[in-house]
Amino acid sequence: MGTGSEFRPRILGFLCNWCCYGGADLAGVSRFQYPPYIRVIRLMCSGRVDMAFIFRAFSNGIDGVFIGGCHLNDCHYSTHGNYYALSMALLCRKIMGHIGLNAERLRIEWVSAGEGIQFADIMNDFAMRLKELGPLGKGEGIDKNKLQLKLKAVTKLIPYIRVVQNEILRIHFDTVEKYNEFYSSKELDRLFRELIIDKVVISQIMLLLQQGPLSTGQISKILDLTPSEISIHLNNLARQGLVKCEENQKRFALA
Ligand code: FES
Repeated sequence: MGTGSEFRPRILGFLCNWCCYGGADLAGVSRFQYPPYIRVIRLMCSGRVDMAFIFRAFSNGIDGVFIGGCHLNDCHYSTHGNYYALSMALLCRKIMGHIGLNAERLRIEWVSAGEGIQFADIMNDFAMRLKELGPLGKGEGIDKNKLQLKLKAVTKLIPYIRVVQNEILRIHFDTVEKYNEFYSSKELDRLFRELIIDKVVISQIMLLLQQGPLSTGQISKILDLTPSEISIHLNNLARQGLVKCEENQKRFALA
């Protein structure tokens, strides 16, 4: 279809040492074909993957992130790190959706050390899907600078999101289906709206004002939100003493 060279997505994989890394190794020695442009980071457990790793990868232009762990209930640690990884990934996918990124750019799978062929199949499928989606941001039609602002705002919020995540993670299910059901429930949507969405907007406003004073209209244009939505946040920030309205200019600046 295109005239230029074929798009080769940049993929970063976080693989648990005990299972998925073994599967990747087996795929290699068995010469099962999968894309050579996947970069792998080996971790002791999928539960070690922090959401900061994921958003940092996207900030650095990675097109897709893969997390591979042991099958559920086969994690080698008593903390059941793969349940933690699953819940964290589902929360990340929700945040990605909110900032306009396709959630399919983050994939989590369970692969044992004896499943080399499955590992290769998953990687081929993931690479194919990422090719369909196109380069990060461009594929979603998001302006590069706006995407960087959104990713920076989320990254700044990660310590706070971890606290929220820990609350959510208290809820423990025993199947992937139940996790998926919970993360697409109205209850989770409500929590997500109340605890995270507004904070991401506020974080973006504060980052923009670090560069200089801006009017409500200018901010609303950059963030693709209505001036009244921005006004609500600016007034709250002003009440907290974090921003101030510059006299006569109707522009807001950091206090
Ligand atoms: Fe593999 Fe925990 S040791 S997911």
